[in-house]
Parts: sequence; structure tokens; C-alpha cells
Amino acid sequence: MPRLNCIFQCIATSCFSFSIGYHGVVSSKIPIMEEISKKHRDDLILFVNGKKVILLSVCLTGTKLGCAEGGCGACTVMVSRFHSNRNAIVHQAVNACLAPICSLHHCAVTTVEGIGSVASKVHPVQERIAKAHGSQCGFCTPGIVMSMYALLRNNPQPMMRDIEEAFQGNLCRCTGYRPILEGYKTFTKKEGCCGSRGKAGACYMITGQKEEKGDSTNSVQQLFDPSEFMPLDPTQEIIFPPELMVHSHMNPDQFSPVSLSKQPLRELRFIGERMQWIQPSSLKELLQLKAEYPAAKLVVGNTEVGIEMKYKNQFYPLILAPAFIDELNSIQYTENGIVFGASVTLTLLGNVLHGEVNKLPSYKTEVFQAILRQLHWFAGQQIRNVAAIGGNIMTASPISDLNPVFMAAGCKLTLMSKDGKRVLQMDDKFFTGYRKTALKPEEILLSIEIPYTRKGQYFSAFKQSPRKEDDIAIVTCGMNVVFWEGSNIVQDIQLSYGGMASTTVLATTTRSQLIGRQWDEEMLQDACSYLTEEMTLSPSAPGGMVAYRRTLTISLFFKFFLTVQHKLAQEHLSTEDIRPDYASAVAPSHLDSATSIQLFQAVPPGQNMDDVIGRPIMHLSAVKQATGEAVYCDDIPCYKNELYLALVTSTKPHAYIKSIDTTDAMAVPGVVTFVCAKDIPGSNKTGPVVYDETVLADEKVTCVGHIVGAIVADTPAHAQRAAKAVRISYQELQAVIITIQDAIANESFYQPTRTIERGDLTQGFQESDNILQGEIHIGGQEHFYLETNCTLAVPRGEDGEMELFVSTQSTAKTQALVAKALGVPASHIVCRVKRMGGGFGGKETRSTILSTIVAVAAHKVKRAVRCMLDRDEDMLVSGGRHPFFGRYKVGFKKNGKVMALDVTYYSNAGNSMDLSLSIMERALLHMDNCYNIPHVRGTGYICRTNLPSNTAFRGFGGPQGMMVAESWINDVALSCGLPAEQVRELNLYKQGEYTPFNQCLEQFTIDRCWRECMNISDFHQRKANVELYNKQHRWTKRGLSIIPTKFGISFTAVFLNQAGALVHIYTDGSVLLTHGGTEMGQGLHTKMVQVASRTLEIPSTKIFISETSTNTVPNTSPTAASASSDLNGMAVYNACKTLLQRLEPYKAKNPKGFWEDWVTAAYFDRVNLSANGFYKTPDLGYDFETNSGHPFNYFSYGVAVSEVEIDCLTGSHKNLHTSIVMDVGKSLNPALDIGQVEGAFMQGVGLFTLEELRYSSQGYLYTRGPGMYKIPAFGDIPTELKVSLLRDAPNEKAIFSSKAVGEPPLFLAASVFYAIKDAITAARAESGLIGPFRLDSPATPERIRNACEDKFTKLCPPPEPGTYTPWDVRV
Ligand SMILES: Cc1cc2nc3c(=O)[nH]c(=O)nc-3n(C[C@H](O)[C@H](O)[C@H](O)COP(=O)(O)OP(=O)(O)OC[C@H]3O[C@@H](n4cnc5c(N)ncnc54)[C@H](O)[C@@H]3O)c2cc1C
Ligand code: FES
Ligand code: FES
Repeated sequence: MPRLNCIFQCIATSCFSFSIGYHGVVSSKIPIMEEISKKHRDDLILFVNGKKVILLSVCLTGTKLGCAEGGCGACTVMVSRFHSNRNAIVHQAVNACLAPICSLHHCAVTTVEGIGSVASKVHPVQERIAKAHGSQCGFCTPGIVMSMYALLRNNPQPMMRDIEEAFQGNLCRCTGYRPILEGYKTFTKKEGCCGSRGKAGACYMITGQKEEKGDSTNSVQQLFDPSEFMPLDPTQEIIFPPELMVHSHMNPDQFSPVSLSKQPLRELRFIGERMQWIQPSSLKELLQLKAEYPAAKLVVGNTEVGIEMKYKNQFYPLILAPAFIDELNSIQYTENGIVFGASVTLTLLGNVLHGEVNKLPSYKTEVFQAILRQLHWFAGQQIRNVAAIGGNIMTASPISDLNPVFMAAGCKLTLMSKDGKRVLQMDDKFFTGYRKTALKPEEILLSIEIPYTRKGQYFSAFKQSPRKEDDIAIVTCGMNVVFWEGSNIVQDIQLSYGGMASTTVLATTTRSQLIGRQWDEEMLQDACSYLTEEMTLSPSAPGGMVAYRRTLTISLFFKFFLTVQHKLAQEHLSTEDIRPDYASAVAPSHLDSATSIQLFQAVPPGQNMDDVIGRPIMHLSAVKQATGEAVYCDDIPCYKNELYLALVTSTKPHAYIKSIDTTDAMAVPGVVTFVCAKDIPGSNKTGPVVYDETVLADEKVTCVGHIVGAIVADTPAHAQRAAKAVRISYQELQAVIITIQDAIANESFYQPTRTIERGDLTQGFQESDNILQGEIHIGGQEHFYLETNCTLAVPRGEDGEMELFVSTQSTAKTQALVAKALGVPASHIVCRVKRMGGGFGGKETRSTILSTIVAVAAHKVKRAVRCMLDRDEDMLVSGGRHPFFGRYKVGFKKNGKVMALDVTYYSNAGNSMDLSLSIMERALLHMDNCYNIPHVRGTGYICRTNLPSNTAFRGFGGPQGMMVAESWINDVALSCGLPAEQVRELNLYKQGEYTPFNQCLEQFTIDRCWRECMNISDFHQRKANVELYNKQHRWTKRGLSIIPTKFGISFTAVFLNQAGALVHIYTDGSVLLTHGGTEMGQGLHTKMVQVASRTLEIPSTKIFISETSTNTVPNTSPTAASASSDLNGMAVYNACKTLLQRLEPYKAKNPKGFWEDWVTAAYFDRVNLSANGFYKTPDLGYDFETNSGHPFNYFSYGVAVSEVEIDCLTGSHKNLHTSIVMDVGKSLNPALDIGQVEGAFMQGVGLFTLEELRYSSQGYLYTRGPGMYKIPAFGDIPTELKVSLLRDAPNEKAIFSSKAVGEPPLFLAASVFYAIKDAITAARAESGLIGPFRLDSPATPERIRNACEDKFTKLCPPPEPGTYTPWDVRV
């Protein structure tokens, strides 16, 4: 929960954080606990935001919980600690979710509330992210603010790369990151304070010369004005509490009278409900304890143990914390290298090695340099600040990044027990099995010696992961070669790999074969063969990607070979240097800082300053979000006697429930009840369109994650513990249908099957010169809103009334389905939404599954009940974007003109219908994208599978529909041997032409967008450069692509195209505005205030939106389909117009008066100052049977150009450039609209290049958190990004000539996918492969590498399908 004291890790859900000073219950099942607890116990003392806290009961809600596994950064706080040995205070950004509360003893914690607030004074770090439009939903914002704040506390004038590094551990799902970086660039040394927005690129905060603002026709690029920013004044920060100047060595004379350190240094014990934390004060004590309790767990950073306890059902009753023992923190320099104590953090390790690399000759620091390279891509800074080198070794993870380096370098480990020390070389005997080492139970790792290298020794390390930043490796390795002096003959070589077995391994056979060999081409060929033989994997190996992982082992060796060859040549030890076109294979990755330009049309000169329409005003909640004061659902204070709910879900994909045993669960302290289907007073049938689901499974489960029941208890920890203790027995059923292919084979489809057909296909194919057939699979996508689903249900005590606070896009649907389940009229249920921490379609219908269950529970216990899902639960139960499979046959002329298309779509809908029919309809309605196809037929099948129901997601099937279109048009271009952009342009629609569903394209702007995008991206020059680059580089290739999009605006279900608003004017002139839309970060409330402000002709500051609720505006459509500004905007406009008309007589009577005067006069004249407004979109309605009528009110258009570079050996890619031109009509607010364009684009980048949901063949979802499921991070934004809002393109069909913008830009990320495909095409040409080839989405490193077929991929062919059970299946 976003309450600070709940966020710090409670140590195995023992409520440790609550029980500091509380004499916790000691479980009789853990004998050592009793024994130890007889000894003393300590009070935990820390400072939070400058205030001393002993009993941690602070209710700070600013810090957010997004994942509880260190992967999102939403919980970032700053921890400050006095280091006596350095006599320095160290400030570090830390993930509160993994920081054990006990590790904070004698620390000062600063949260987002501690640095500034709206009520007092906003801190510059908070102000700048808000004003630069870097906060949309705001759920990530406190964490980002604190990462930046911690950086500035250590380095008030950072470089841009310091900022980028500080954000490696923070995720944002809304903004696309650019505005955050842009805002914080103003703190950097180089960029000055305004980010070079003055004249001639100078800083106008220094020169005083601002760049001219444009007139109505000019484009301007200033979305915020840095000259408004408060300066950063480091002297104003909270001081470190003098009381905490704790010295690790006892010398009472040194201490101030109030110092906590006056207390003698001694072992500390903190006792919780189920476990103990002991912090020994000396190595001797630690070894003694380890001898006494060999099963006790050592914890330093807790970045591994924390995950094991939270997500892997591990429980460690006794923790030993060695973080402050001198011997484990020491750094000693020896003749052979540097000895690091096992508790040295990775940040400190990096700092020390950095110093050495700068100081020593390069040949001596080959290993150090390799470690630094690994560390750069190791987790995020918050993790590196606390994680220890020893923790990484002792976790013994087969995908550790450092162990292969340590192993290849032959590092020495010193182990110690009470009985003495022993030294082991880290070799293939150290790891004895999966997560096992040669340590004896009573031993600890004391230190590691990292050796210097010598002349003639070369070392490299490589890591390949799905995402560059903060990701675990697929394959990682350390490679070490030593040559006989003055030669290129191998004296010794060690190749160590992670990700290729259950432990880190050494390629010992290869080693023995290579010793004595010359470092040349012949040796390379042999080495690849030996490695292929030695580094094998079972086709069913955990982690999958078997062929890719095997290929990587040799591809990475090839990189090492080239690196060494080049170094040998430089030292004249080899006759041959590497070929110039091979050089980029070993070049360091692109680390250039991102640059950007945003272009939009200024408001016309003379527009009233109070008229905020068209101005880039800030999201109205942005500052509150940045200070942590914005209230999200779970920030609502607890009700008296409130209870917490945890879900019990199915572990089987398809089964009858035989029995449910809750005996163990009910025995967990604090448990109040178990809620199951029979507790539902109304109907158990539910579903947003058809009632084909159950609120709680009664007889049968149809997916893993199907909700069977729920535990209600006094605390989240107790509820979750008990939920895990519920035992369900099943009778498994056949068939288990997981993939689209399974569904096709079993003909498992929902009805109806939809078809759109126009023209005569037979004729079209006859008129074609060529016909080709192809397929593409488009993977699903997890919404990954930073705020997971949350509901608080409060029974009102009479007539079955209930009030619900929900994080939902659909208040009306929530109300209706809760009423149905409770068996009460909808009028008795109120659903309220203040804001959401992101929605993206994921909270349109699927949020109702949780809210209904919480309401049923609250009804049963007659008390308030709350639940905020953990990230893994949310990902498991709530479904995501539909995976799609497209199969097409396309006929075309030699010049690339498409004549006929027959396309079939299959979507994986999961175990209920949800919105799948509408989603398939939208896919079909976008099967043409922007291309005019004379003869066309599209058919859509909705597959019923045993997966959790998939649902709405930004684009709602449109992106999948268009992705298939881009696949066939790309194939046509490849098949004709023509440039793809030429074929695309040739087939583009023209104004007045008709779509396959017979809608005429009016006010058609795609041609303008296309031309402008070509222009601003400098496409033709770029293309020439790409071609030249590709000629000069064999192992990296560049690709370029231009992609258009046309997105139909309106709900395809006609009845949803309506909206209401309610506006009250109070007698002081203030206005309370309510409308049917919900705020999820997109800035809808801000836009609605702008609309009301212009209509009422009053400043926006007089208008306030508090929330969305069913008792103010009834029967609202979900906030979805990009149509909310259009629909609600018109409803607000209508309500305001009504009020304005009522006020008109008073304005006429007193023309010189003010707003307040007219309002007062009207009030005394008994005029109704409250009005509602209503709007329905006219002329809508499409009939699939007759292919007639209009499905859409209008279309939004856009075009994007992207250029990428791929590494053909690893499959990594970097997005070098993106230009986007988007037609948003006359923008209501360019800052918000550009925010939507960039945010949607980055979400699309995730969809098409990165995000992969991985399921077992039995429908078990492996990717249940940011650790395994990777959304784009800061480092994934284009190095150069230009966004332009099309000028002079008013749209007469929406409020104030604007256009919808939420969903349409998402598809433009396909430009990155097709640029990648273009680069792969160039790589394949090197191997003589030309013509169309299949590339499924997302274009992950695995898919890119496998598609770049070469001599290495040939050595590692994929296993024969059907001969094995794969670890994961493509659904
Ligand atoms: C978000 C996230 C990202 C990550 N990214 C990466 C990554 O990119 N690469 C990577 O390799 N790892 C990564 N990890 C894994 C983890 O951070 C590292 O393994 C880290 O180094 C563990 O250190 P720690 O101090 O936090 O270990 P802890 O969790 O405190 O302990 C880990 C294990 O080591 C044992 N241990 C610790 N010290 C000693 C000792 N002196 N003697 C004996 N046993 C000891 C503990 O008992 C425990 O079993 C990541 C983890 C998270 C949560
Ligand atoms: S909540 Fe801590 S990193 Fe996500
Ligand atoms: S603003 Fe970053 S997640 Fe919403």
C-alpha cells in the first residue's frame, strides 16, 4: 500500500514494520525464535523527513508501491546515513519496497513529502517535473522526484548522463520519458538553466534573450518556460539529524551529548511477529551466530532475499545483518588485486574500480573495466546502492552478471567460519548446483579478491538482456585470454557463461582445445565449433529461447575474438587487424543523450489571456502529484475497523473444483472470513457486455488465475498469508486451449465471426501481376499501469447502500455490476473515482472483477474492505491486449499497387468474451490502415482459450489490424524489390476515397502528414546515409521506415457515444464541474476545465473538478476510445452554455460587473445555478451485415519515420531517430496532446519491440512483474525525437475543432518495428537472402538475431517442433 510504513519491507509478511516496539507473537512453529527472543530486544530508531520515529506509524502516502520487487522505482526514497570511517553523510536513492525496515536503524529517510509541498513550498525538483509536463497519471512521479533529489543532494550540478543513470531504476508508463528528462536537463551543468531555449541556442536565463514566440501560423517549441523555475538552493535542504552521527568504533569522547552513538556498540535485535533481525556488532559475533544457527539468512541489500520472501514463498525466521561489520566492508589493495569485503555495495565497488581504471595503466585493469561495463547495465541505481558484491555471488544465480566475470578472472574468495578461514578460487567447482555453492552452512563469505591483469592478457564481459537497462541477462559472460609473452599464442583462456545451465559455467573443453593455438581465423572457426558442442541446452530448458541462447554463446565469443584481434594488432602481435566493416561489432553501445523538438501551433495573436484553449497549460494535478499530495484510491485513510482482502486464484487452466479447504487459512492470525461464490447475495453472473463470467468461480475454473475466493483479514500481510494457505483440489479437464493455434485446431471460437467485404476478390487477384501469402503473429501486452487495481468498499449500513472508491475507467459499469452481485438497485451504489495511476484500457472492464468481489466481501462482513492488488496478482488475473494472428493473401501489380487482399484475423480472447467482439471489429475496421485496396475481404475469429480474459488496451484492436496491413505492404515492397516507402505512398488513400466499410474520407490529412514527416525527418538524406552505413558495416545494420496511421474515432457500440456533465456555480463564483470521464493521467479534467473556462468566459482558476461519481453524472460511458474529450467536452460545453444563458440578463444589466456580481445577482433572483449537459455524437451506426452506415465520427491521422541500428550478432537495437507528425485538429492543449503522442508512441514501442508475455503450455504466466516483463525504460527513447502537431487542421466534428489523441499515435511505433525489419533485410542480404520473410511482433533481440541468419545461426538450428515440450508457448 502506498503508506510509507507499509512499503518498507516487512520481512516475510510478518508485519515487522508495524511491530517495532510491539511485543510480537512468536510462532511456536519456529523454535529458534523462542530461544532468541528470550534475549534482549531493541527499539528501532530512524528519522523520517527530519522527525525522529521510534514506533514507525507514519502515514505518509506520497511514496508509491508499484511492484514490491525493486523494478519500477515508484517507491524510491532517499536514505541518509553517517559513515564514520569516511566521516561523511551518504545520501542514496533506495527502493523502499525492498529495504527492510530494520536496515534503517539510525538512518534518516526522506520521502517526497519531506522535500516540499503545495501547502508549504514546492521543491524545484517537484516544480520542474510538473511544469515540464513530466507527470501524467503521477503514480511514478514521487519515485522519479526522489531519484533526482538524491542525485542533486550528492551532485548539485550533474551531467545529463548522471541523470540518465539515476533513472535507470525508474519506470513511467505514461509520459514516454522525454518531458521528464527535458525538465531535469535544466539542472545540468552543460545545459544551463533553460535547456538552451534562448536565442541561437543560448541559455536565456543567462543572456536574457528568449527565442521569439511564433504567431498563429508559426510553430513554436516551447511547452514550458524554464525562466519561471525556482533556482536550486542546496543550502535549503533538510539537515542530517546530528543525533545520527553514529560512529562504528566506540569512542565515547567523539560524540556530541545527544548522539545516539553514545550507546555502546553492541548487537541489535529487532523482533517481529514471526521473525527476528539480528545485527551483530563484530565479525566474531556474526560467526558465532552463524555457527549456532546455520540456517539463519545473511541479508545485506535484501534485493534477492526480499524477492524470495515476497514472491517465491520463502520464509526465513532469522536474519543476520552483517552490513556494518568492518571486515565485510573493507577494501584492501594487494599485490595481485583489490580485496573487497562481501558487504561492499555495487555502487561502492563501481566507484573504487572507476578510480583505479583512471589511475592505473589500461592493461592492468582489463577485469575492472569489464566489471564496470557489467555494472552499468546491472539493475538500477537504487538496487546498486544497497546490493552487495557478496550477495550477488552467494545468490548463485545462473544469470548473475558478475559471477561469470569473477569466474573467468579467477577471483579468490575468502570464506570464514568460527573455526577459521579458507580461500577458494572461483572456478567451476564453486557453484555446486542451482543456487548452491561450496560454502558450508556455518560459513560466510568474507571477501573477494579481484585481480589485476598483466600485459598480454585481455578480458571482456558481455551481457545480453531483453531490455538494455535494468534487466536480467539472457546470456552473460566473462572472457579472459592470456598470451605467451610477445606472441598471439594462447597461454590460457577462460570462457565463463551465465544463462546456459543451472549454474554459471566454464567452457573447460573449449579451453583445453584452444590453449596453444594462434589467435586467428582458423582458431575462431574451431572455437565456435567447440563452444557449440559444449554449450548445449535442452530444447525444454527453463527460460526458453534455446537456439538464440546457443547462438549468443558463439556470437559473443566472436565479439571477443575481434576485440582481442584488434588489440593484438595495435600491439603488433598479430599480422591482421580486423576488417574495417567489422569494427562496429565491438564498438561500445550508443550512449548519446536524447535530444528532442516539439512543434505546435501557437494560439492566434490577441486571444484573451484568460482563454486557455490551445495553450500548453500544465496538468492541473501535476504539482500535487510531484509532491505526493495527490490522493489515489489506496491513499484514502482507513475507515474504522477496515479489513483487507486477498484473492485466492486457480492454479489450473481448466478443471472442476472438487473442494476448498480453508482450515490452515482460517488459523492465520487476524483472518475474519473466506468469501466464496455462495456468499454472493445477488447474481454470480457477470461480464461487461454478456454475462458469461462468474464473480467467483463456483464449479469450474477456466484459466490459471481464475478467481475462486478471497480472504478477508485485519492486515494485508495476514490476508495474503492466509490466501496462500487455502487448499483447492481440482479434477482436471481437457482440452486445455492456450494458443491461437490450439484454438484453430479445436475450432474454439466465440460467435459471431465478423467479415467486411468490398469489391470482387476473384477479379482483384486476376488483375494482379503477383500474389503472395504471409503470416504475422502480434503478441499481447500487459497494461502495466503503475497503480494496480484497487477498490475500497464501504457499506453504508442501511438499505444495502454501499460507497465504492475504485481505480476504474468505468464508474457506471462498476456500479451496475456491484449492484447485480449484491442484488440491490444501482441507485443504492455509488462509485467514486478521484484519479487513477494509469488505465490504458486495463481498468475499463477488468477492474470490475476486483471491485465486485471487494463489495461482496464488505457486504458479508459489514465493514469497510479494501484491496490493492500486488503487481503479480494484477498481471495474473486482469488480462491484457489481445494477441493476434494474421494470415493474408495479397495480389498486386509490378509497381507495387495492391489490387486485392484476403486477410483473416484471429485474436486470443481468453476465457470470457469481455470486449473481444468490439476489439475484433475495430481490427477489421483498420485492416486497410491508410491504403486503398480495390477488392478486399477481412474475416475475424475470436478464439476462446484457457487464459484470463483479454480486454481493452489503448488502440483496442486497431494497432493489431494495422500491423497486419503493414506486414503485407512490406512484403509487397520486398517482393517487387521496390523501396517500401514508395509502395506505401503509391497505395495511400486520397481525399474523398472510400474505406472498405464504405466511409468517405473527408478532411483527409494523411498526405500532409506524410509530406511534413518526410521533410522534418530529412528522409531522403537519411536513407542515403543508411545505405552508405550498411555498405560499410557487416555486423551492425541500420534501417529506416515511414509508417502512416488512420484511426477511427467513436465507440463502435453506438450507444456508448454519449456523455453527461453537471456544473454547479456557487454563490462565491466558484464552479464545481463534474462530467462522465475519469482522470487517469491523460489530462481529461484539465481539458474539461479549459472547455468550461472558455465557455463560461471565466479564468480556469475558478473551476474545480473533484472527482467522477455515479451520483453526479449517471450512466456514463467508460473513459475510453479516445473519445472522452470529444464527448464530455461537448457535454460540459452544453451545460456551461445553459448556465451562461441564465446569467446573460445579469451580465446585460451590469456589463461592467464581474462574474461574482452576476452570479450573486442571479442567485438573489432565484436562478438555478446548476445545470447538466448532455451530448450524443450524431450520424453514427454501422451494420456489418450490409456494410453500410458510419462506424466513425471522423479519423485521426499521423505519420512517423524511424531509424534504428541493430546489432546483428546479439539482436539488440537502438532507436536513433523518430519524427512524428500528428493531426490532432486544433489542439485543446498542445502540452497534453504532445504528452499523449509521445506516451502512446513509447507504449507502442513496448508493444512492437520489447514487451513479451510468456506462458507455459498449461497457461501459467511466467512474466508477472517488472523483473521479467519489460516495458520501455528511459534508455529506450529515441536518441533524437521530433514531434509536430499538424498546423491549420481544424476538425469541425469535435469540441473547439480539436481531435482525439489518446490512442491514434500508438500505432506509429510500428515505424520502429519496420525500421528494424529494414535493417534485418540488409543483414540477410549479406547472407544472400532476399525477398519477404516473416517477423513476428515484438521484434525482440531473440527474433532479430534469429532473423539475421549467418554462419553462427547455422551452427545452432532451432529444435525440431513437436519433438519436445517447450518452456513457453506463443499464445
Ligand atoms: C530489480 C532488481 C534488479 C536486479 N538486477 C540484477 C542484474 O542486473 N544482474 C544481476 O546479476 N543481479 C541482479 N539482481 C539480483 C541482486 O540484486 C543481486 O544479486 C545483488 O547483488 C544481491 O545482493 P544483496 O546484498 O541485495 O543480497 P541479499 O538479498 O541481501 O542476499 C542474497 C544472498 O546472499 C547471501 N549472502 C549475502 N552476503 C553473504 C555473505 N557475506 N556470506 C554468505 N552469504 C551471503 C544471503 O544470505 C542471500 O542468500 C537484481 C535484483 C533486483 C531486485
Ligand atoms: S515498488 Fe519498489 S521498485 Fe516498484
Ligand atoms: S506519469 Fe509516469 S506512470 Fe503515469
